[in-house]
Amino acid sequence: MSLINLIEFNVLGDERGQLVVLEAMKNVPFHIKRVYYLTGTKPEVPRGFHAHKELEQVAVCVSGKCLMIMDDGVKKEEVWLDSPSKAIFIGKMIWHEMHRFSPDCVLLVVASDLYDENDYIRSYAKFVGMINND
Ligand code: TYD
Repeated sequence: MSLINLIEFNVLGDERGQLVVLEAMKNVPFHIKRVYYLTGTKPEVPRGFHAHKELEQVAVCVSGKCLMIMDDGVKKEEVWLDSPSKAIFIGKMIWHEMHRFSPDCVLLVVASDLYDENDYIRSYAKFVGMINND
């Protein structure tokens, strides 16, 4: 099974511009409890490098692009998030990294729960250990 679960958002466009809608349990497969976005990122400074025990997220570059790397502890796959209509689902227990941010990148993330540092696994060795103990 691929680690790259993309969600293609419908773009409601007219001569005034584009409009994209994210709705819980419609094109986002969970109840959204938190929204955050990354700005001012730098091409040479990757981010992420963690997995979540329970949290589910959907991420989309509403401007610019970045390279998303997904890793289930066995295999690693990557995809460019390079369109405001192209989102990725980040399920629980998926190590993820964002690389090569374009200078204009705005990465929007919707999450299934509030921020909880205890839900993070920030050590890759610990992540792989948890996968192998399943
Ligand atoms: P972090 O998750 O490490 O960012 P990234 O995965 O993009 O590299 O978060 C950076 C900091 O922001 C860290 O100190 C935790 C804090 N933070 C919150 O307080 N609330 C949040 O919802 C998020 C996502 C992060």
